[in-house]
Amino acid sequence: MGCVVRNILIIEPEKRARSLLIQLLKKTKAKITALESCEGALKELEKGTYDLIFSKSNPRLKVHAAKSKLICLGSNRLEAVEMGAIEMLPTPIDPFELERILKAINPEKIISESPEMKRVLEMAEKVAKSQANVFIFGESGTGKEVIASFIHLHSKRKESPFIKVNCAALPEALIESEFFGHEKGAYTGASIRRIGRFELADNGTLLLDEVTEIPLSLQAKLLRAVQEQEFERLGGTQSIKVNVRFISTSNRNMKEAIQEKVFREDLYYRLNVVPLYLPPLRERKGDIIPLAEYFLQKSCEDNQQKIKSLSEGAMKKLLSYSWPGNIRELSNVIEHAVVLSRKLVIEEKDLNFCVEMEVGLPTAGLSLEEVKKRHILETLKTCNNNRTKTAEALGVSVRTLRNKLKKYLSSSLDK
Ligand SMILES: Nc1ncnc2c1ncn2[C@@H]1O[C@H](COP(=O)(O)OP(=O)(O)OP(=O)(O)O)[C@@H](O)[C@H]1O
Ligand SMILES: [Mg+2]
Repeated sequence: MGCVVRNILIIEPEKRARSLLIQLLKKTKAKITALESCEGALKELEKGTYDLIFSKSNPRLKVHAAKSKLICLGSNRLEAVEMGAIEMLPTPIDPFELERILKAINPEKIISESPEMKRVLEMAEKVAKSQANVFIFGESGTGKEVIASFIHLHSKRKESPFIKVNCAALPEALIESEFFGHEKGAYTGASIRRIGRFELADNGTLLLDEVTEIPLSLQAKLLRAVQEQEFERLGGTQSIKVNVRFISTSNRNMKEAIQEKVFREDLYYRLNVVPLYLPPLRERKGDIIPLAEYFLQKSCEDNQQKIKSLSEGAMKKLLSYSWPGNIRELSNVIEHAVVLSRKLVIEEKDLNFCVEMEVGLPTAGLSLEEVKKRHILETLKTCNNNRTKTAEALGVSVRTLRNKLKKYLSSSLDK
């Protein structure tokens, strides 16, 4: 399904929604044409084709489905099918959902030079061909989502949706409706029927990202849905049958999560038919330089700079670091260096690690936020990067710790 998107047509009468889509699609670097009406768009389509078209349901666009990929704005599946859409983007637009769709259309490149990563990809390709549910383990930033998408794209389900639920990001109260959808009037505020992610993923793959964050109270219902491939929308009585393959991810120690009764064992065994382990970057050093060079080229292109290279000293520094934030951190460090350095060669001094843990540094004069950050990162180091233990030591929930770390590891550019 991979393709390069060169031009995009947006058909959206509402100005705010139109502007938001334009804004969010800018980073694709495709040429964007945004129109208010379908009449105008049909005229535009007589002139030439578009790689991607975003529009509310309109069967008149169906004739273009052969040449363009249509994305239906809204969540009425029947309408989307009638229009010949390959994906649905529910409104109001969720930027993460849009990103997922773009990734499915334009899959990311996967760098795998090290023997460790080659083995993971080989295994992922084999597993992809089966129908088995897959559980991907690995520290934060090791590429679990990238592998999940790779499995989907190498499976028989690749023409059907790849839907993701980030179980850690969703507020507890919304998770159930997000999964199973709801009928109109199911609860206060449920003014229209909503299709849940299980239903959206029918015939495709559902990624349960950070699955241990699903509240225990919901896990029994999830177990039934996974086992029977059947569920009801909230407030509904009709059973809905689906055919979904599950890929779950976690960076928790699952044995501990089960022992601590945070996660149901029966659900774990249903989801973990085939386990895949993504080693941390420090255990696949063969990927560090190829990844750094890949991110270097990408950052230079994104920032419209001449392609830079890495000095020998810089390479050594990259190879000797422990990368607690793994590939995400490496990508941030490189982008940071590209933005800040004017020279064509990136030197050792241009590389500022996000998590340079200088234990015992004086804290006077630092902001409270900075002191907090250092304390958290030092504790993480003392606990060998084990988040459950770190959270315990700090007296915060794993979710809180994870959110903090995500912020720290992705904010190197804001410093
Ligand atoms: N092998 C790879 N080649 C190129 N880019 C990669 C590779 N693996 C990961 N990345 C990039 O690194 C970043 C982190 O990857 P991803 O989001 O898949 O990690 P994750 O394990 O899901 O992290 P988290 O646990 O924090 O959710 C992404 O920007 C992704 O594109
Ligand atoms: Mg992830």
